[in-house]
Amino acid sequence: MAIWKKDAQRSLKAGEKDRANMKILGIETSCDETAAAIVTDTREILSNVIHSQIDEHSPYGGVVPEIASRAHIQRLDGIIQQAMAEASCDWKDIDAIAATAGPGLIGGVIVGVMQAKALASALNKPFLAINHLEGHALTVRLSHNTPFPYLLLLVSGGHCQLLSVQALGKYELIGETLDDAVGESFDKLAKMLGLGLPGGPKVEELARNGDRFGVELPRPLLGQDNCNFSFSGLKTAVKRIVDSEVKAGNVSRETICASFQQSVAEILCDRLKNAFKIDKSDKIIIAGGVAANQFLRANIEVLAKEYNRELVAPPLHLCTDNAAMIAWAGIEKMQLGMVDNLDFNPKARWPLSA
Ligand code: KG4
Ligand code: ZN
Repeated sequence: MAIWKKDAQRSLKAGEKDRANMKILGIETSCDETAAAIVTDTREILSNVIHSQIDEHSPYGGVVPEIASRAHIQRLDGIIQQAMAEASCDWKDIDAIAATAGPGLIGGVIVGVMQAKALASALNKPFLAINHLEGHALTVRLSHNTPFPYLLLLVSGGHCQLLSVQALGKYELIGETLDDAVGESFDKLAKMLGLGLPGGPKVEELARNGDRFGVELPRPLLGQDNCNFSFSGLKTAVKRIVDSEVKAGNVSRETICASFQQSVAEILCDRLKNAFKIDKSDKIIIAGGVAANQFLRANIEVLAKEYNRELVAPPLHLCTDNAAMIAWAGIEKMQLGMVDNLDFNPKARWPLSA
């Protein structure tokens, strides 16, 4: 069964629609969500339709790229039509088409980019190739109108990075993971415990009833004078405990989840402290799917207060993959006249910092 997650369409006050000078259709197909959204330059999300492919991938315990590409092909047309209908938009109302052009699973990225190029070409409208990570990085400007510059902690299924965000297109990498991404380690723990997909929210849910100091786990790189991350040692230690203590019933699933989250929180906070020495802006932004985790948010909030910085995080439904963030990145690019050519090549890898 397909799962439909849909934003309640925000109703516009009388006349508000008229004030928007630009409306962009955004398309997101870089992983296992097929999504389309329409966003205005006045920060209105007119529609935000997301189809999760969880049911298709669940039997395999993870995202299968070929299945993802096929599902995007089958669904994208209908999702775009739904986004247009929910926004009460006609094609003449749309000023440009933006699509995730990387990084991600290349088959899915190609599906979204080809669709966007076809629409742009047929309708004679600008095409915008959006870096998925840039979508996450700028979401807070859609949700909170946050001005540049800011320190960004980007934590998703494929990435764990600290970036100094100076302006649109100006991202300086301060540190990144040397091995696994944070979301990936959440997903792996969920898989070890047989929790199913999506892993992160399920681990978070169990952790609520566990003892976060119940199991001693490593905190890789803690105390080192840099901003890099490492999670593979933590994953190995967690696996050892799951295979022995959890299976024997000596440690509960709740406690291993809570102890894991505690370790991740300490690692993130320790690295952030080092980043504060480099990035002097007064705001920390957390973005990406893992930023939806309430426990991690709460820990970073405490740290932010201690260091006199403001923590700003997008609402939960804009942390995980969505097309509203892609449409918004498109708006920002359009405002600077940064339109892309129709021969833009989709990219499996596309670092945010040049
Ligand atoms: O940004 P995202 O939706 O997709 C990528 O660009 O990777 O992030 C997905 C990742 C997954 O690994 C998922 O398990 C994790 O974000 N995630 C969470 C939570 N919600 C999603 N991790 C921890 N706690 C959550 N509540
Ligand atoms: Zn993402």
